[in-house]
Amino acid sequence: MTSQKATNITWHAATITRRLREEKNGHRGVVIWFTGLSGSGKSTLSQAVEAVLFERGCHTYTLDGDNIRHGLNKDLGFSAEDRHENIRRIGEAAKLFADAGLVVMTAFISPYVKDRQMARGLNPPGDFIEVFCDCSLDVCEDRDPKGLYKKARRGEIKHFTGIDDPYEAPPEPEITVHTDRETVEESVATIVTYLEDTGYIAKGQ
Ligand code: ADX
Repeated sequence: MTSQKATNITWHAATITRRLREEKNGHRGVVIWFTGLSGSGKSTLSQAVEAVLFERGCHTYTLDGDNIRHGLNKDLGFSAEDRHENIRRIGEAAKLFADAGLVVMTAFISPYVKDRQMARGLNPPGDFIEVFCDCSLDVCEDRDPKGLYKKARRGEIKHFTGIDDPYEAPPEPEITVHTDRETVEESVATIVTYLEDTGYIAKGQ
């Protein structure tokens, strides 16, 4: 739990509220949190979902692991503490985007259950949809799009998730997509249908 450092600060309530923004947008703000091993399809899938939603007129944004580590989180590595701080900052950023009325996708390994719970807890109940990109380590390692598994196996990268660092699968994700045996289109359809069924976006929007 990160403690409050600054004192003498006051929370100001917004004049333009989240509900007003959502009414104008014609859909709800929500965080769609993708989690899974490196190479499990988080980035591919989050971008594919965003493309469909964007095409349907939704206000969207994607926060992606590798990109955020080039900027906001460039000071963080892959220790458990740094991964925790990574997820804390992303969680706070995602919350702001959802508060601004957007459908925000996040694509981070986010290997620890308690860190994902923390990110979930920042949002109103229901407004955090955890999507588990379930893909066997074998398939992720076969894909190895960045050549990092090979490096990790050779011992050139230490603490690589799935090799010599843990990945804790979500016990109760809202959605599980089996990216080692479904097409991207099938996984996208599962997620978009969930958003329609739960009323985050309108059917046929
Ligand atoms: S997280 O664990 O803190 O959520 P994040 O999603 O931001 O990780 O970054 C993971 C990406 O960083 C991987 O897809 C991979 O490209 C790269 N990476 C570099 N070193 C590691 C490592 N030790 N473990 C996992 N991913 C790593």
